[in-house]
Amino acid sequence: MSKVTVLNHPLISHKLAILRDKNTSSTEFRKVLSEVANLMTFEMGRDLTTKEVEIETPICKTVCSVLDKEIIVVPILRAGLGMVDGILSLIPSARVGHIGLYRDEQTHEPCEYYAKFPGNLPNATVIVVDPMLATGGSAAAAITMIKKRGAKDIRYIGLVGAPEGVNKLEEEHPDVDIFLAALDGKLNENCYIVPGLGDAGDRIFGTK
Ligand code: PRP
Ligand code: URA
Repeated sequence: MSKVTVLNHPLISHKLAILRDKNTSSTEFRKVLSEVANLMTFEMGRDLTTKEVEIETPICKTVCSVLDKEIIVVPILRAGLGMVDGILSLIPSARVGHIGLYRDEQTHEPCEYYAKFPGNLPNATVIVVDPMLATGGSAAAAITMIKKRGAKDIRYIGLVGAPEGVNKLEEEHPDVDIFLAALDGKLNENCYIVPGLGDAGDRIFGTK
């Protein structure tokens, strides 16, 4: 079963309040989203596996722990892009794949329009990122796409989740651990998260 971690941290809660505020500008939204992604990556990183290597300090030889697998970050376009810089500032060696999905306005089902990945998905730790886990359709579809290309070690970092989205991800991908900054109460009739923060893509890019 997926491990669901809702990061309970005063700095994350404070920044999330800024993101939820409808009066926050796109400029501020982008900056704060990136900061939250950075903090979430730090927490998620506790689970990353390491290996021991011998190095030589200026004083003597010693054994140190370093990450043992390549990390590939996969934002779901568009809104996932807003979290990439914050993740890369902690893991600069990570490579980045992209998945383009949008939700059909009537059915709310995800429609795929783009996919491009670095090689080595099967051996990497893959971090799928998207601020909003609403019905879970987009995240579940993105993870299916990545698994079809051989990825085996996958985590999901979101910002705000709804119970429906968490349940769908857990059902379809029980091997994928989920990290959220907040788990909200429900979806509204348009499948938007309540209270949520509105349309994340529009708020990041200033559309609408
Ligand atoms: C948003 C969001 C997720 C998806 C979540 O993207 O960024 O990808 O909706 O909803 P779900 O869990 O019900 O699938 P959207 O489809 O609005 O596309 P955009 O990022 O291009 O605006
Ligand atoms: N997509 C968003 O951007 N926001 C929501 O609340 C739900 C889906």
